[in-house]
Amino acid sequence: MNIESLYSDGIKQLSPSPIRELLKIAAKPGIISLAGGNPSPDTFPVKELRDCFMSVIERDWKRILQYSPTEGNVDLIDIIKQHSIKQGINCETENILITSGSQQGMDLVCRTLLNPKDEVIVELPSYPGSIHTLKSYQAKLTGVPLDNEGIDTDILENILKQRQKTGKLPKFIYVIPTFQNPSGTTLSENRRRTLIKLAEKYGLIIVEDDPYNALRYEGENIKPIKAMDHDEHVVYMSSFSKTFCPGVRVAWTIGQKDLIRKMVISKQGADLHTSSLTQAIVAEYCKNNHMENHLKDVVSYYKIKRNIMLESVEKYFKGLAIWTKPLGGFFVWMTLNKNVDTTELFSKAVEKGVIYVPGSSFCVDGSNKNSMRLSFATVSNENIKKGIQLLAEVFYE
Ligand SMILES: Cc1ncc(COP(=O)(O)O)c(C=O)c1O
Repeated sequence: MNIESLYSDGIKQLSPSPIRELLKIAAKPGIISLAGGNPSPDTFPVKELRDCFMSVIERDWKRILQYSPTEGNVDLIDIIKQHSIKQGINCETENILITSGSQQGMDLVCRTLLNPKDEVIVELPSYPGSIHTLKSYQAKLTGVPLDNEGIDTDILENILKQRQKTGKLPKFIYVIPTFQNPSGTTLSENRRRTLIKLAEKYGLIIVEDDPYNALRYEGENIKPIKAMDHDEHVVYMSSFSKTFCPGVRVAWTIGQKDLIRKMVISKQGADLHTSSLTQAIVAEYCKNNHMENHLKDVVSYYKIKRNIMLESVEKYFKGLAIWTKPLGGFFVWMTLNKNVDTTELFSKAVEKGVIYVPGSSFCVDGSNKNSMRLSFATVSNENIKKGIQLLAEVFYE
């Protein structure tokens, strides 16, 4: 049977994630991969996890091996509520939904808000996983460039003014304001306020994707945009994937109660609920007060790696490129001379034994061809130095 003619319009627009394809190359022995966005398995708290697993399974097996409410585990929701209130986010239980990763949060937001051809504003560059989701709902994507202070709110406002004239405004603005994937930049406080004002003025939703927030290596904490949101314009998503373990697939969305209710209904059609077992393990881990110490360890672990990457880049790329200096998260974004195409040079880098992700993979308009994303999270300290040195050889040649 020919299945092609039966595919939906949404799926026809999708191609395999370039990053997932690259990760197959990264699996080859001897390649130093600066391409992945994964957290390091060295940070996974295996012993405490085993203890938490044993406790919940012995104590509560009837409940946690059973189907459970779509909204999520009540203890976990309470933990997230307390944590969010500390972050300055005003929320109640009904504002919170536990999702199977933030990736599902994004899917449910799109499912709940988007019709085909609705416009969504995304950063240039942005996280390809979310771009993928947006495309599958046939959103019309408009990119707004970033600089060192995050999304350029002047350019954004000009676009919104134009759209207002035509009478069709975007549905939402998708941003990763803190330690952005892929650029590593953080949206300044001023721009966070401007973004909220624009959302209020034009009646837009801001979707704030914030999985790296707790991974700060220097500087003062900055409040999530959601903490500045007095009129419920922001839908906030965060996750245990980067700070804890992505395999548990536990994340959360905070939004206005009506929207969360609709997302709950959508989730019932997607997976009924996030795993009762892993939610219970994560809740137990937090209730036993492990998370605070764990985060301290994880932050010191990645800080060393970030410093090594920045030192190596300074040593080998000074005068050849510019790059971001992330205050947290996993990524450095490097931009070379205008006539360099990092996609074309990718196979040369593979020959040398190092890989990165070409910049255009993150851009809905195919721009940033002369940029690349470098991740320090899963690479050994020695290999960060070696990888950057090899990369410099590729570009010098
Ligand atoms: C910005 C961003 N959002 C969402 C995700 C997906 O996270 P999760 O594992 O919670 O689905 C990632 C993972 O790389 C990410 O970088």
